[in-house]
Amino acid sequence: MDDPAVFSRAFLGKKLWAGQRSIIRALRDGDVAVRSGHAIGKTTIGAVAACFWMMRPDSIVITVAPSMRQVKSQIWREIRSSIQNARSRVIQLPSGLRMATYPEFPQGQAHWTVAEKWYALGVSTNEPEKLAGAHSKRVLVIIDEASGVDDRVWEVADAVLTGKHDRKLVIGNPTRTVGKFREIWSRKQEAGVWQRFHFDCTKLPWIESRQDPPVEGLVTHEWVDKMRAKWGPHSPIFKIRVRGEFSTTDENVLLTVDQIEAASRVEGTRGRPVSLGVDVARYGEDKTVLTWIEGNAQVRQWAFDQRDTVQVAEIIRRAVASLPVDCIGVDADGIGAGVCDNLKRLGVAHYEFHGGEKPDRPQYRNLRTESHWNLAESIRGGHFQIIGEGEPYADELHGQLAFCLSTLTGFTIESACGVNRT
Ligand SMILES: Nc1ncnc2c1ncn2[C@@H]1O[C@H](COP(=O)(O)OP(=O)(O)OP(=O)(O)O)[C@@H](O)[C@H]1O
Ligand SMILES: [Mg+2]
Repeated sequence: MDDPAVFSRAFLGKKLWAGQRSIIRALRDGDVAVRSGHAIGKTTIGAVAACFWMMRPDSIVITVAPSMRQVKSQIWREIRSSIQNARSRVIQLPSGLRMATYPEFPQGQAHWTVAEKWYALGVSTNEPEKLAGAHSKRVLVIIDEASGVDDRVWEVADAVLTGKHDRKLVIGNPTRTVGKFREIWSRKQEAGVWQRFHFDCTKLPWIESRQDPPVEGLVTHEWVDKMRAKWGPHSPIFKIRVRGEFSTTDENVLLTVDQIEAASRVEGTRGRPVSLGVDVARYGEDKTVLTWIEGNAQVRQWAFDQRDTVQVAEIIRRAVASLPVDCIGVDADGIGAGVCDNLKRLGVAHYEFHGGEKPDRPQYRNLRTESHWNLAESIRGGHFQIIGEGEPYADELHGQLAFCLSTLTGFTIESACGVNRT
């Protein structure tokens, strides 16, 4: 039983799709790395590889994931279900096959010991020491959700996996732009070390032909369409979760420093509409910031320390008196409401921005979050120029933009930044 794909079908009852077959067969020749969008069967193929590995005496399998919860609920859930399947089949199979050693697996268990140097074990990213003692004839380390696994684990794995028959299988969504998983695809030195696989969900055969997946549970074209409509084809979420591409945006930041710098080098087209955004400070805290935008270029920003609402309104009136402004947008929550009242009194037409209001698209926490996201999208796409180094207030602006945090899953954007809110 040399072919793991045949093993999977015959013993575990899992028919693999072509991508999974390629992955597990490649493991015979060397280390394998897989990045992809969701639900292409990575964790499942990891579980099949673990079971296949355990067929031979003196084999050790260590599975690693970012948390123990993930270890138990993902790869070990698959290992358990595979084994249960195998146990029910083994009865009808000729004797002598080692499937008889497959144990009963209680839920939540993440270890399986046959003999002292013949075992499988699930560990989380903060337990690299559990890898250190893994020495046997053949050791397989499977790193699932590999973007989120600490580099320390990779280092220990490298130190342990020195034998000719030892292997690494690393799999995951490319959620982080730094770390060892990223380096597999970015560092030249890694190219010869790994057999690398990349699966873009939009290009899978059953997605392109808009058919049902070959196996239930794998990604569907309906889900891909939904994600495209929800996030947009160029959003980092779509890139990471669907296309399996490393995004230029790190998981927790709205914009990376590279993107911010690039945006200050964009040649924006200056023209209409001309707008003035007003972000009003609270007393004793940040500054009141006026942002001047022409077309898709942020031209200038002015910052003022503690002024009262009458003074701010007056500054705006004077600024727009000599300039062809199409639109004035004022952050009207909190103290900004007073500025709006004064602008009304002065007869200056303006738009009141209420960041806490309902967003246009429901996936955002509120209108402010949505506006931040839209602005970040334009910046990432190279469609918006922000003020560059050396310009007044540029350092503060760049710093604030870089501190806007987002989380890909819950999709909230935490921000204290005075980004353009027009
Ligand atoms: N060959 C197979 N036979 C039967 N079921 C499968 C097979 N491959 C995958 N599945 C099922 O499809 C679903 C998705 O697979 P899996 O969790 O392995 O994907 P994944 O690529 O690890 O997803 P994620 O990116 O979310 O981690 C699971 O419910 C799994 O049990
Ligand atoms: Mg998985």
